[in-house]
Amino acid sequence: MGRPLYFDCDTGIDDALALGYLLASDAAGEIELLGVGTVSGNVDATTAARNTLDLMALAGRGAPVAIGAQHPLARPFEGGVPHIHGRNGVGNVELPRAAAEPVDESAAELLVWLSHEYAGALEIVAVGPLTNLALALQLDPTLPSRVAVVTIMGGAAIVPGNVTPVAEANIHNDADAAAAVLEADWPIVLVPLDVTLEHQLDEDHRVRLLESGRPFAEALGRILDLYFGFYVDLYGHRACALHDPLAAALAVGGIRASIAPAIPVVVDATDGPGRGQTICDLRGQRIGPRDHPGAHVRVVLRTDSQLGDHLVDTVLTL
Ligand code: BDR
Ligand code: CA
Repeated sequence: MGRPLYFDCDTGIDDALALGYLLASDAAGEIELLGVGTVSGNVDATTAARNTLDLMALAGRGAPVAIGAQHPLARPFEGGVPHIHGRNGVGNVELPRAAAEPVDESAAELLVWLSHEYAGALEIVAVGPLTNLALALQLDPTLPSRVAVVTIMGGAAIVPGNVTPVAEANIHNDADAAAAVLEADWPIVLVPLDVTLEHQLDEDHRVRLLESGRPFAEALGRILDLYFGFYVDLYGHRACALHDPLAAALAVGGIRASIAPAIPVVVDATDGPGRGQTICDLRGQRIGPRDHPGAHVRVVLRTDSQLGDHLVDTVLTL
């Protein structure tokens, strides 16, 4: 049996890549994907669940999918980012509709339940706004004592943000939730823009997916078309950043962190221009990475290899 894992996402194009990586890792026995919760971010939580179920069916895999929070903890959901992920979250591609439906529990309820069933061993990978994790903490404040590690795609340590000068989208979309989750006493691996922007898929990768003859990979190839267009402004050519799949690959172990100090991290949840910033205490790191005693958040700043080829090879096993 692989390591038990709960995945929280806002599917979402790069979420779909992360899902593919996790489904393939599950099929290979490295992890056991026990449940998926969805949250409003790239699209609303209900659409994200539909996308997740449809993608799983294309991959010939399954796991319980729970619809999570429709709104951030303290503000209304603002409608997602159709210019990046498409109106439907999957690049405006119509996926075949899967027969499977979401389970009745909320994502937070599913997570708390799994934490009891797999106490001490459950791992969490969260690649959307952290609302569901914050709600699970409210439901059961003892949750962190039963979770082995939480890997989060989010934040910006040294580089600029991607939705404000200082804030990354997942953290900014629910800064109150992120503040609660980063503050809770569980081991966290934070995978920020500093490192996710350094990993890309390009047109060669997309062609490999499109021409694979495999339904899941082909769908990814089509979905990526819109996403590649969005990144032309940033990279100067058609490609995309691998935010969410990098968090998945680091969590599974297919990619390893080479620089990842354990440091104090505070989320700015005020209403000023700093809202959503992940304030990472990187002072004193000039001669090399150094862990702060007692810090429970490890911030990944560099990895030992590139994800692109490994990601495509992995999803092509589905
Ligand atoms: C993050 O924001 C979302 O749009 C992506 O899916 C990723 O999780 C990157 O900032
Ligand atoms: Ca995401």
